[in-house]
Order: sequence, then structure tokens, then C-alpha cells
Amino acid sequence: MPDCTFYTTAIDYTNAAPHIGHAYEKVLTDVLTRFERLRARPVFFLTGVDQHGQKVQQSAEKEGLSPQEFADRCTVQFIELWKKLGIHYDGWAATTHPIHKRVVQKILQRLHDEGQLYKQAHRGFYSVRQEQFLTDKERNEAGEFGPEWGQVVELEEENWYFKLSKHRDWLLNHIDTHDRFVIPAFRKSELRNAVEKLSGDLCISRPKSRLNWGIELPFDTEYVTYVWFDALINYISFAGYFSEGGENLPRFESLWPAAAHVIGKDILIPAHGIYWTIMLHGMGFPDLQIPSFLVHGWWNIGGAKISKSLGNTVDPNVLVERYGAAALRYYLMADIVTGKDSDFSEERLRGRYNDELANNVGNLLNRTLNMSARYKGSVLRNIAVDHELLHSLAVTEFPQAVAAYFAAMGDYQVDAALRAVIGLARFCNQVIESIAPWKLAKDTAQSDLLDAVLYHLAESIRVVAILLEPVLPDAARGIFRQLQINSEPQLADAVWGVLLDGHILGAPTPLFPRLEAPAEVG
Ligand code: MSP
Repeated sequence: MPDCTFYTTAIDYTNAAPHIGHAYEKVLTDVLTRFERLRARPVFFLTGVDQHGQKVQQSAEKEGLSPQEFADRCTVQFIELWKKLGIHYDGWAATTHPIHKRVVQKILQRLHDEGQLYKQAHRGFYSVRQEQFLTDKERNEAGEFGPEWGQVVELEEENWYFKLSKHRDWLLNHIDTHDRFVIPAFRKSELRNAVEKLSGDLCISRPKSRLNWGIELPFDTEYVTYVWFDALINYISFAGYFSEGGENLPRFESLWPAAAHVIGKDILIPAHGIYWTIMLHGMGFPDLQIPSFLVHGWWNIGGAKISKSLGNTVDPNVLVERYGAAALRYYLMADIVTGKDSDFSEERLRGRYNDELANNVGNLLNRTLNMSARYKGSVLRNIAVDHELLHSLAVTEFPQAVAAYFAAMGDYQVDAALRAVIGLARFCNQVIESIAPWKLAKDTAQSDLLDAVLYHLAESIRVVAILLEPVLPDAARGIFRQLQINSEPQLADAVWGVLLDGHILGAPTPLFPRLEAPAEVG
């Protein structure tokens, strides 16, 4: 068993600028890995960029740059955005890196030597956009190749093939016998249906005459490797496969298999669910070392797919500038169910932030610290009182919220986890409304009850901060600072009664300033 939880995401194409779909996948994985760190488990998060292929070559040509210059320029945009969004990754997979090239070539050579590859001529229709030969399966009802394939040309070509289809029955069996192979489960049935129809092998080469921006086949130098065959290998090449812990890479055995490859629904079939899984099997990985796929849905805009040609892409940089990274992270996690699609709306981003964070969590913190300062000189007293509402907060609402949070996070349902935390904060605000501590402050006979109320609120806020940490790491630490807690947030402390009698709280400073709609231009 590996001693580290390993998460990877799809590596992003460097033929265009990042949009909120890319940002979502990175934030989701960042949140899952921060959750692991918060519960003190060693974790490794690998992400990176997919720099080869026809699209990069074409885009570079258009701009008069070399493919490497073009890919490097795009790569910087991704790296800068991840920094702005607070994405904490441990490994960076760039497919033009020599480490990766060497691993890809070693794998190819081995598969070749073992007789798992063969060369064959093929005449057929080729999609320039998708960089693949098409079969009759890809024809639409009118018998044509639809616009999604872009320009389609007839070609005859000799190429190298990987014997994919001979593993079909193994893959079907693997799908049937491994529950967590594909999450959510409905995607598993889609994959199974596709595998049942699998016929033919995988063309893994491109003649250099047509495409030279790729990794050369070590046994036939007139060819480069098909971009997917190259890119998928990043998950192991940057996890230390063939490196024995050298080259500043982790030890492969300590990481593999990945707890999840986090990918979008478009690249499960065939890329990950079929090609990658069979590649690993063909390389000799035993079933227990076949990773799981966490397949997320898509962000759309106005019900339409985000696309450069539709001109509806939203630049995450603009959103960060306008609303801050915390607001974007929160929205991307709260307003989508993992696995399903969602529609992006800036209005909802502002609305949810204002309602759930500014008016709810922020207000709770602010009121609690203010009341404590005004009525009790900021000194917390842990005094036992018999009060039904406080009792139900400590004994029912609090443990239920924590349990719901853990269950949801363990299931990758970050939106449900956030609902549990926000619900706890809302309950606390209701406790304030219903007990009205300002009334208690006027009556010295109620002094103990007032202490108990403030203690219950401070305890709840402390744990709200811990539970928010994976999504809002800075805000969580901000809350800790205001509560004057000097330790780092950790899930082991998400239990009742950690703040000590006599603890002194700090002064409130607004953490979640309300977001306003940008002023209309023109
Ligand atoms: N380069 C390939 C992946 C290779 S993995 C070995 C690729 N790149 S991509 O840039 O097109 O997409 C990167 C990731 O972003 C994919 O997981 C994809 O599903 C995801 N998304 C792209 N658009 C998206 C949305 N609109 N919404 C959510 N995620 C989306 O595929």
C-alpha cells in the first residue's frame, strides 16, 4: 500500500488560455488534498500541462513562434492562475520535460520489445481537429462526419498500433469488480457500454511529415508519439516511475496507485477509462494498482458549452481581480454537485458569497467577538448551564454537522460538506436571535448564561473555520487569528470543548466584505 494519498488532475492543453472549467478542476483537487492534509494524512497533488500535439503546432505557426515558445507562454498563464487561486500542488507535469520524454520512450521501447505494438498501413478519413482517423461509428445520422470533427481529409498512412482490443474482456471484468474504479457510478455504466463496443487497436504514432511536435518513437524515428499516449503517461512519469526516487521525484511505490485521477466527463471515454487503463494493464500493472477516476461535470454558461469560438469564455483572472480568490473558490465548490454539470453565473457567485459567507459566517464571527468584548472583556468562560437551545447546539447540531461534513468530503461531495458548515453557522445566528445576549447583558443574574452562550458561539466558529479550511484556507486562518488561536487548523480539533476556560478572544475585523456587481461600463 502507498503511504501517501495521491491525487492528480488532467493536464491542461497549452493551446489556449485557461477558463473557469480548468480552474474548477484544480480548485476541486486542491480542496480534496487540503482536506487530507487537514486530517494529517500525507498527500501528493500532481498537475501540469499537456504541451505536445497538432493544436499546439498549429497555434504556434499562426503566431510565428516555435511550438515550445508557444507552449511555454501558455504554461505561464496556467502557473500564474494557480498561484492566484491558491492551488497548492506538489508536482508539476510538463510533457516536454526530459524526465517525461525518457519515461515515455522507455515504455514505448518495452511495449515494442514485448510485441505489444505493430506497424500497419491504413487508408481512411482523418479529422485534423481531433487528430484521429474516423470510423463509420463517428458518422452522424446523415452518414456524414459532423462539424465537431472539423476538417476531415482522406489519407493513407503507415502507423504504429498498440494492441488495445485484446484487453477488452479484462477491462470489462475490472469495471464489474471494482466499485470505486469510476466515480460517480453512472459514469461507470457509460464506460462499460463503450468498452463493450470496443474493437480495433490504438494508433499511437504520427508521421513526422504531418506532425513533428511530439516525442519521437525510439524504434522508428520517422514518427512521433500520439499526444494522448504521451500525455497520459505524465501520471506516472512525474510520480517517479522509472526514477527510483532520483531527479527530485517522489518514490513511485509511496504514491501509486492514485486515490483519484480527477478528470472532466469528456475525457473518461475513451482516453482515461479505456486507453490509459489498458496501457497500465499492458505495462504489467496489477489490478490493485489500477487507479480510480473521479469524473466531474462541466461548467456551462447560459446552458451552452464554454468555448472560444462561441466567445463565452470567462477569464478566471478577471473574476479573481473583481471578487478575490476566496469568492471564486467558494462559488466553484458550492454551486456544483461533483459529477454533474452546472451553469456559471456571476450573480450567483456574488449572491452565495454575500448570503453564506458575509451575512452568515462573517456576521457570526463579528457579532460574537463584539459581544464578548463589550460584555465580558473578551474573556471566555466555560460554564455549565442548563439551557435547551445551547444543549441542542453542542449535542445535536454540532456533531451532526461535523459528521455530515466528513461523510460528504469522503464522497467528494464538497457542495454538501459546505452546506453542513454553513448550516451550523446559520444555526448559531439563530441562537443569537432567539437568546438575544444583549438582553442577558442587562441582567447580572443571567451572567453565567451569557458566558455559556458566548462560549458555545466561539466553539462553533472555531470548528466552522476548521471545516472551511480546505476551500478557504486564508479565511480559516483569519478566523483563527481573530479568535486568538495560535495553532494551525486541523480536523482532529473538530470536536467540542477545545477552547479553554479563560481563553481571550481577539478583536473583529471584517473577513468577507460584501461583493457588489461591477459598475456598468459605457
Ligand atoms: N490535455 C487533455 C487532458 C490530458 S490528461 C492526460 C485535456 N485538456 S483540456 O485543457 O481540454 O481540459 C483539461 C481539463 O479541464 C479536463 O479534465 C476537462 O474535462 C476540464 N474541462 C474543460 N472544460 C471544462 C468545463 N467547461 N467545465 C469543467 N471542466 C472542464 O483534455
